[in-house]
Amino acid sequence: MGLFNWSAPLLKRYGDRWDDEGVGQVGGWLAPFVERSGSLLDLGGGTGGLAVRLADTYDWCVTILDTTPEMLAYVPEHGSVESLVGDAGAMPFDEDRFDGVVVSDAFHHFRDQPAAVDEMRRVVRPGGGVVIMEYDRTQIAIKLIALAERLAREPGAFFTTDELCAFMSEHGVDGECTRLGGASYVFVGTVR
Ligand SMILES: C[S@@+](CC[C@H](N)C(=O)[O-])C[C@H]1O[C@@H](n2cnc3c(N)ncnc32)[C@H](O)[C@@H]1O
Repeated sequence: MGLFNWSAPLLKRYGDRWDDEGVGQVGGWLAPFVERSGSLLDLGGGTGGLAVRLADTYDWCVTILDTTPEMLAYVPEHGSVESLVGDAGAMPFDEDRFDGVVVSDAFHHFRDQPAAVDEMRRVVRPGGGVVIMEYDRTQIAIKLIALAERLAREPGAFFTTDELCAFMSEHGVDGECTRLGGASYVFVGTVR
């Protein structure tokens, strides 16, 4: 049993951190790419806290794809949010299906990151947006988290800002990283 299978109730209870300010920040990064009623993929979206808030605030149709059924079981019923079990590295969607994708606190958990980015580029239309919120692997707190995740048999595969930008560009997504405070940063990019 994986980390998220058993920890889903804890993450639902203590991990729902999306207040108006946070949702507004994420929505601001995505809004240049996703118009009203546009379609957004929340990859590794877990219990759906962000997806529901974005659907409510921006009138977006949000699809959550996540490997863990126990996480998706907590996604609230919502007319503009659907959830599917599936892997970032082999997504069950047609090409150019989405206007944008958001990945929050999940990219370092993907076991095949090159395949996941290739898939993001395939399912997001050319000119669409890719927003990834991650943590800098050089920060001491992240080194400890990476170690703990590996002990829990998770990849714990964190990047620096420069590494993530270069990696995304190699896979057809050009963008920039902005530091958010502490070890957090965001990559905002456009599919070529
Ligand atoms: C720390 S949780 C983050 C959940 C949510 N995005 C948030 O910010 O609260 C990481 C999520 O990534 C999912 N995940 C891990 N590997 C995945 C993969 N290969 N494809 C899709 N989802 C994956 C896990 O099941 C889990 O729900």
